Amino acid sequence: MEFTALLQLDRRKAADILVLPFFQKKKMPQEAAEFSALRALYELPFEAKDFSGKESEVLILYCSGQPEKRIALLGLGEEDQLNVEGLRRAYATLTKSCLSKKISSTNIVLPQTKSLDGNSVLRGVIEGMLLTNYHFIQLKREHIYNNPPNLLNKVGIISKIKPNVLLKEAKKHLKICEAVNMARDLVNGNADEVNPQYLVQIARNLAASLPKTTAKILTKKDIEKEKLGLLLAVSRGSNCDPAFIVLSYRGNPKSKEHTVLVGKGVTYDTGGLNIKPTGSMETMKCDMGGAAAVLGALAATASLDYKTNLTIVIPSTENAVGPHSFKPGDVYISHSGKSIEIGNTDAEGRLILADAFSYAIKHLKPTRLIDVATLTGAIDIALGPEASGLFCNDEKLANQLIKAGEETFERVWRMPLFPEYVERLKSPIADLKNIGGRSGGSIIAALFLKEFIGTLPWAHLDIASTAYLSEASRYQPKHGTGVAVRLLVQLLETEAAAEKK
Ligand code: BES
Ligand code: ZN
Ligand code: ZN
Repeated sequence: MEFTALLQLDRRKAADILVLPFFQKKKMPQEAAEFSALRALYELPFEAKDFSGKESEVLILYCSGQPEKRIALLGLGEEDQLNVEGLRRAYATLTKSCLSKKISSTNIVLPQTKSLDGNSVLRGVIEGMLLTNYHFIQLKREHIYNNPPNLLNKVGIISKIKPNVLLKEAKKHLKICEAVNMARDLVNGNADEVNPQYLVQIARNLAASLPKTTAKILTKKDIEKEKLGLLLAVSRGSNCDPAFIVLSYRGNPKSKEHTVLVGKGVTYDTGGLNIKPTGSMETMKCDMGGAAAVLGALAATASLDYKTNLTIVIPSTENAVGPHSFKPGDVYISHSGKSIEIGNTDAEGRLILADAFSYAIKHLKPTRLIDVATLTGAIDIALGPEASGLFCNDEKLANQLIKAGEETFERVWRMPLFPEYVERLKSPIADLKNIGGRSGGSIIAALFLKEFIGTLPWAHLDIASTAYLSEASRYQPKHGTGVAVRLLVQLLETEAAAEKK
């Protein structure tokens, strides 16, 4: 999407539609004088009570004599209630109306209000539009026949913010939302295509195109040499080799602070020999949603040149069924040296994450570690699609993530790590077992991970309920959401900004 910025309404260029924002109970958008030429148009719908300005209300009018042939009246609700999320939702609704009319260029008048500062308004408006302006069509025949559906590609923003300041902010949101859309594409792609080697290629391409970024890829041979025994065990049933991806961005070489993000990269989860039933397997191309999120977070962080040190680690494999599949009841040795009895081959995510944690702690000197994983169906039972589960051994980090969750509306909900449940992971024949009963399933999974963390500040985000939606919702499309990209970038941005001062 291309943005232009203007200070005055009468300087605007031709476009398919002009968008005017209205607060409820207030007819005029901002300073009335500027809009006097349009007033005749938008007063009538108010008088006829066809439009009241409530949040996300959209009314499209047709007109002549303007640089646009349509004017959209967009409701933002009550002015004193306005917040960034309300703006995202309103501009998402607007964008959907535009897309359904094959509109590709808009002029928008940025709302002005005392309730929110200019940058926050801009953020809500742009994120609402950019996150909605997405189609996954690679698998549609029309796309093959070169008939891509319409997207918005030109947005002229009319506001009191200085054009260069506005464009800089807009570009930042654009980069972040592009990273979200990359994560969505990765989740939505066919699992037959988006396999561990495909993720390797994505990582290599990012390293080649981003500043201060280097990739280290462990092939199957390296993984054997490094004794990542649990990743090897999970990968045995598959025709694809596993891969272990390490991608580092050094944006603050003087600092010892080093954030490691670990993303679960199971490119398809059949459950293994404890095979998933029909109805539970069809969406399992989403099981690399954590890997997609950390790739997106790194792409945005590096392209925005944040003053921070960030490494992402992706253990990647399929969890397939085959003659070589790892077996329930057998014991495998992890990278940490702990032996693990496999109670269920479908609890594979925690196995590959455990190896990634001990590799990261041994080789990367993290000062904190955050993992992102579509780990348990149970988190959907606990929280549903409105929040990801947060498990954390560090108060500061937990609070930072909760705050970032509120700012981005990628909400996280803190869950307990009750030590009483650790007992459920005991095995009579090995150091640990990978399952511990159905009740409290998400907590048990997190407690298993915690066994491989030691004292390092650590957060685990269970995104099994948020990474993939069966229905579109607000600015989230159907299927891959790219969740956690904006959350993690927000966390890093807040700190990098403090570092620059
Ligand atoms: N990938 C799944 C979790 C999942 C479920 C992700 C639904 C997205 C949507 C994970 O590997 C899994 O199968 N977990 C099991 C654990 C159980 C065997 C202890 C589960 O949640 O049922
Ligand atoms: Zn599984
Ligand atoms: Zn899984």
